[in-house]
Amino acid sequence: MNILILGSGGREHTFAWKVRQSNHCTGLFVAPGNSGTEAIATNLDISVTNFEAIKNAVIQNNIKLVVVGPEDPLVQGIHDFFLKDDDLKYVSVIGPQKAAAELEGSKEFAKEFMMRHNIPTAAYKSFTRENVEEGLKFLENLEAPYVLKADGLAAGKGVLILNDIEEAKAELKSMLVDAKFGKASTKVVIEEFLDGIELSCFVLTDGKNYKILPTAKDYKRIGEGDTGLNTGGMGAVSPVPFATKTFLDRIENEVVKPTVNGLKKDNLPYVGFIFIGLIKVGDDPKVIEYNVRMGDPETEVVLPRLKTDLVEIFQAMANQTLSDVTIDIDERAATTIMLVSGGYPEDYEKGKEITGIEKITNSIAFHAGSKFQNGKVVTSGGRVMAITSYGNNYEEAIKKSYQSIENLHFDKMNYRKDIGFDL
Ligand code: AMP
Ligand code: GLY
Repeated sequence: MNILILGSGGREHTFAWKVRQSNHCTGLFVAPGNSGTEAIATNLDISVTNFEAIKNAVIQNNIKLVVVGPEDPLVQGIHDFFLKDDDLKYVSVIGPQKAAAELEGSKEFAKEFMMRHNIPTAAYKSFTRENVEEGLKFLENLEAPYVLKADGLAAGKGVLILNDIEEAKAELKSMLVDAKFGKASTKVVIEEFLDGIELSCFVLTDGKNYKILPTAKDYKRIGEGDTGLNTGGMGAVSPVPFATKTFLDRIENEVVKPTVNGLKKDNLPYVGFIFIGLIKVGDDPKVIEYNVRMGDPETEVVLPRLKTDLVEIFQAMANQTLSDVTIDIDERAATTIMLVSGGYPEDYEKGKEITGIEKITNSIAFHAGSKFQNGKVVTSGGRVMAITSYGNNYEEAIKKSYQSIENLHFDKMNYRKDIGFDL
């Protein structure tokens, strides 16, 4: 079977790496891909939201399965586009339809879904430009820190956590009145602040059944000790040591089951990954957010621990026979360290040659913001490469990743030296 993966990050290289191991995969295409996917698949120079170009590529290359990496095409309805097209409707798409992708596309939609299905989450209220004055009053009745969330997709930047009431009020106005995040902040969700430690749970669903993948914890801040600006993720660990069997059972019963049942009840068609961002408050799991895709760099630690053939899993999801599949997980821990361009998540330079990749033998180098240029691998993004290792525990795995990184070099290479520090 010929398979197309949409996206260009470390997540997509990891998908490609895992799919390549399957006997069911004959041809593998990635659009647009990166230097890592180019080495094991055919990269197609197509944007993930150019549906017509994707359609042509699917027909031309006889593709039978499309795996959607990032959220944008899902929120824009790529799955629906395939179902409505006579030439594409028999192609399997891994990723929810548009109505269900709103779980990530709109924070308010996600909050209403959680309320409707009794899924534990922070108390909230949402506001628009019309009732901004009410929003300001609402803030005055809350205690710091104040959590403001742009309703729509804002490339991971739409959540503000502020300690000062005046700053919070100013930001609320800037979001609603001055469109700080463009259309994404026409509506703002103000939320109760939850104090605890975060982890993520990944669920596969075919719309009827579900399977739970290993948990992971990512490190979002650029600076050591979780300081500085938010990034897409600077490293990840799987499994999460504090996620005990008792806690995982509670997540399954209080969050996963009502989520999958809620999707069914609400007629939200979902064949894909559900990425549930959780926070452990005391002993209780609470949902911070839903994403309708896998995480990056969480994928770089979750998929390496999956022993089951991923293409067989995808086929079962598409055929709604996921309940027949057994998910085998590697007992070892996996960790990844993200190498980023100096300056990221703000301005950074591109086109820096990356050397030493061939010296990495004890870890897996998943390429992210990198491409081939004149026979060399050069940087092309902020997050450049994720170095994943296995270990008997996360400490051992992290040590291996840091040792492997010693071999790598590019100008202004930066990475966090403390991944796992809080475990
Ligand atoms: P999100 O984009 O919804 O994942 O939010 C980004 C980050 O903001 C999360 O990973 C949390 O660290 C933090 N966050 C979001 N909502 C809350 C909340 N209600 N209480 C505390 N922290 C939060
Ligand atoms: N690492 C967080 C995310 O993929 O959204």
